[in-house]
Amino acid sequence: MLTVKQPTELREQIRTFKRQGKTICFVPTMGNLHHGHFTLVKEARQHADIVVVSIFVNPMQFGNPDDLNNYPRTLEQDLAQLKQLGTDLVFTPTPEVIYPRGLENQTSVEVPKLSTMLEGVSRPGHFRGVATVVTKLFNLVQPDVACFGEKDFQQVAVIRQMVEDLAMDIKIIPVPIVREASGLAMSSRNGRLTEQQLTIAPQLAKVMHQMADHMLKAPLETAAVIKQGEEAIQLAGMKPDELFICDAHTLGSINADTSEAVILVAAFLGQVRLIDNLVVKLA
Ligand code: PAF
Repeated sequence: MLTVKQPTELREQIRTFKRQGKTICFVPTMGNLHHGHFTLVKEARQHADIVVVSIFVNPMQFGNPDDLNNYPRTLEQDLAQLKQLGTDLVFTPTPEVIYPRGLENQTSVEVPKLSTMLEGVSRPGHFRGVATVVTKLFNLVQPDVACFGEKDFQQVAVIRQMVEDLAMDIKIIPVPIVREASGLAMSSRNGRLTEQQLTIAPQLAKVMHQMADHMLKAPLETAAVIKQGEEAIQLAGMKPDELFICDAHTLGSINADTSEAVILVAAFLGQVRLIDNLVVKLA
């Protein structure tokens, strides 16, 4: 497995792969890898000859400097796991390499509407940060295919629209959420939960399933379903932060024509903000 830090080394290596006629699948990450990421890497292997992973904690997508500073960094462990999975190349740039002019002077990519709705309301600038870094990484890695986890449902929608709007010749593969046996969606943040909190966190997925049952009986009773969900999250010992039900394809409101809805949830368990989602087939 090759590990490179500098864009020049990366570009040289990518050129070599392309000259050999190899296709490239890319998995961008912020490190602190878990089984959810491993699934992305294994999926990537199905789509191309070469698997490239990036590990970069992107300062542009963090609103809160404490969140950025506290983000777990486990590079040595991540590299060992990626090697075991047969990854071909890992790109591990520093913020100075990605943003040499500083964040304030960086050209940015803004996907309208999708970036400022739902999660984008409480995290202004977050999706601009994601779209910008992913564009830059795409330009460096030049992949044919890229894999993104569906756990970040809105992120996948933003990336898909960006790729379409900017005519990027890259196929985006959304990869389903990987869950613990308890139903808890795998996340780097789970590592910050105490043993006792780990017994509470799986309730989030259970609440979404109860909401889905309610929706199947009364699909347009969105407000009542959300109220039920918020109450159940509180009862479980968490603090609901955001709870949305939207059309899974447009992320707009659901209506009589919606065939697939998605429940998007964010809740605090202590200091840890957990997110999850569930797609509900209505037709
Ligand atoms: O999903 C993530 O880990 C990040 O948002 C991504 C796509 C690597 C961009 O920094």
